[in-house]
Amino acid sequence: MATAQHIKALIQSHFSNEPERFTTLALQVAAHEAKKGHINLADDIRKLVDRGKIRQKVLKPVNQDLEGLILEISPVHKLANLIATDQLKTRISRILNEFRQRNKLKTHDLENRRKILLSGPPGTGKTMTASIIARELRLPLYVVLLDRMVTKFMGETSAKLRLVFDMISNRPGVYLFDEFDAIGGERAKDNDVGEMRRVLTALLQFIEADKSDSIIVAATNNVTLLDQALFRRFDDVLQYQIPTDAEIVELMKNRLAGFEVKFDLSRVVSLARGLSHAELTSACLDAMKETILDGGKAIETTLLEQMLQNRLEVYNNKR
Ligand SMILES: Nc1ncnc2c1ncn2[C@@H]1O[C@H](COP(=O)(O)OP(=O)(O)O)[C@@H](O)[C@H]1O
Ligand SMILES: [Mg+2]
Repeated sequence: MATAQHIKALIQSHFSNEPERFTTLALQVAAHEAKKGHINLADDIRKLVDRGKIRQKVLKPVNQDLEGLILEISPVHKLANLIATDQLKTRISRILNEFRQRNKLKTHDLENRRKILLSGPPGTGKTMTASIIARELRLPLYVVLLDRMVTKFMGETSAKLRLVFDMISNRPGVYLFDEFDAIGGERAKDNDVGEMRRVLTALLQFIEADKSDSIIVAATNNVTLLDQALFRRFDDVLQYQIPTDAEIVELMKNRLAGFEVKFDLSRVVSLARGLSHAELTSACLDAMKETILDGGKAIETTLLEQMLQNRLEVYNNKR
């Protein structure tokens, strides 16, 4: 049986809507069982976790005219779980604080910062930040699928954008334009390029004109694209970086909490250098699963190194 501590923690994470923590705890229970030789039970738990993860990604459509173009997703991340510099966390706190006290600001003719640009390499916490802001402010989180808008409504995208911004005015929330500068992406045909540029320009104009109570978050992986004209339209620009050595250690400790860890930290850190937070997270989860399936007690250096190596290979192939 799982320990009393595990059961309490599982219940708590369920009611405080922390699915990531719930997943970690469930895997810890599986590890605990595996250690005691209950391999089948451990494996069953792991399968349940895998199935649950798939279900969690099912998204709700919003209103009819925007069906398939805006999705509401449940914001699950907490600020406390973001691994970033104090400076970055302070700036996120300032967004939250100004929103909470926006009426006070209004009496002095000031506005809370609510048009935010996030930039940095993939897997460093930009989407997570939108989720954090929504969760901390108890606002719904809407993801605008610009890419789909452009490919599906060629020529009518400005009209659709207008509908999106009507919704932003009428329904307060956090609106995420994720990877907004990559619209069209690789699927784009040459004759779509002009349309995409028009959409991007229109989007920036809509953002600039917006006077709603919603928070608009635009995220980009493409740091070089940022120019002064773009910065000007946002109230704040947050830069994300791949983790420092200290942040790598912090992330591993958080992720592997509950497992006995037998690894050479400095070796692991030197291997992990250059990987994003998301890739490190995946390597830790892979190592946890493997340990559980092998009925092992502790996460061994070689295993963690192997998982990091796998991630590095994927990463290097992508570049
Ligand atoms: N700075 C971070 N701190 C802690 N976990 C992170 C961080 N960045 C990414 N992660 C983990 O990786 C996952 C994917 O990151 P995401 O926010 O989608 O990256 P991005 O949007 O920058 O590409 C997150 O859900 C989280 O589990
Ligand atoms: Mg993202």
